[in-house]
Amino acid sequence: MTQQESTQQKILQVLKENIGRHVSGNLLATRFGLSRTGIWKHIQHLKSLDYAISTHPREGYRLTDIPDRLMADELVPELGTLWLGRHYHYFLQIGSTNDRAMELASQGAVHGTLVVAEEQTKGKGRLSRPWISAPSLGIYLSIILRSPLPLNEAHHATTVAAISLAEVLGSRYGLSAMIKWPNDILVMGKKLAGILTELQSDQDLTRFLVVGIGVNVNHSKEDLVGPFRYPATSVAMEAGHPVSRKELLLSFLERFEAQYDVFLKRGFSVFLPRLTGLSAVLGKTVRITSGNNELTGKALGFTEEGGLRILLDNGKDQVIWVGDITQLEGSC
Ligand code: BTN
Repeated sequence: MTQQESTQQKILQVLKENIGRHVSGNLLATRFGLSRTGIWKHIQHLKSLDYAISTHPREGYRLTDIPDRLMADELVPELGTLWLGRHYHYFLQIGSTNDRAMELASQGAVHGTLVVAEEQTKGKGRLSRPWISAPSLGIYLSIILRSPLPLNEAHHATTVAAISLAEVLGSRYGLSAMIKWPNDILVMGKKLAGILTELQSDQDLTRFLVVGIGVNVNHSKEDLVGPFRYPATSVAMEAGHPVSRKELLLSFLERFEAQYDVFLKRGFSVFLPRLTGLSAVLGKTVRITSGNNELTGKALGFTEEGGLRILLDNGKDQVIWVGDITQLEGSC
């Protein structure tokens, strides 16, 4: 952080401590060793970041509202994590947070580095689908993980993220969030979030993973018209009111860090009961597409390693590791 940024953060802190009350420009100037014009410049910058600050010629500056932006200055001081988000890269606009995270990881970014954007212009979903990322309505983030997992266990990171997110949506917002294996979060059959995990490997071990998560948060119905494969929804639509993206992000990061540490320590099998309880597909007749292959059958359960057991139409029991699922009974 530059000297300039650090001073700005301190000025903001004083305004926050006095939210709704005036703070004199002279007082700020003396406290931070700047001229009154120097303080005014910082205030203009804070206003450009959507902090609502009014100016009174004699009384000074008054902060009246804090924007629901996901910038480091707002997030990091309140983050109760040990390793996740301690290196925080924030963008107003970016192509894809996953692409940026992959670049940062190949340049040596540490375990837990986070890339967050207000808007993505080339947001990516699985199978090269686009992820529509409207400005400041959703959460678009990528997490760099550097635990060297055997390649055949890398998909567990996606599942641990999906479980953590579904649980936060349930406990914090009372939503009945379910996981459509392997990477979608649905509420009442509508897609609310998706996860795209990418990785670089060294023979049979992952060198790093990038877990990219997109959550529809404050979208209204009109924001979700477009080329969506499934009916889509958002946290606000399901909860019935707008929600703070910052609070959701903080809760998710804290939960994911804790759960990922449990996974590293105790393995994936401890998550199976929760994955089973949160599954949107178990007991349903589904079609699974993977490349040119297509299978139809009933989803029976998960194996110890997190594969999906399917009872095929021909009576055979088969374990599926990758694929795109469509539910044939009801909607999915
Ligand atoms: C899917 O449902 O197919 C996965 C969607 C993943 C979207 C997120 S948004 C943040 C991160 N950056 C991307 O480009 N994609 C992921």
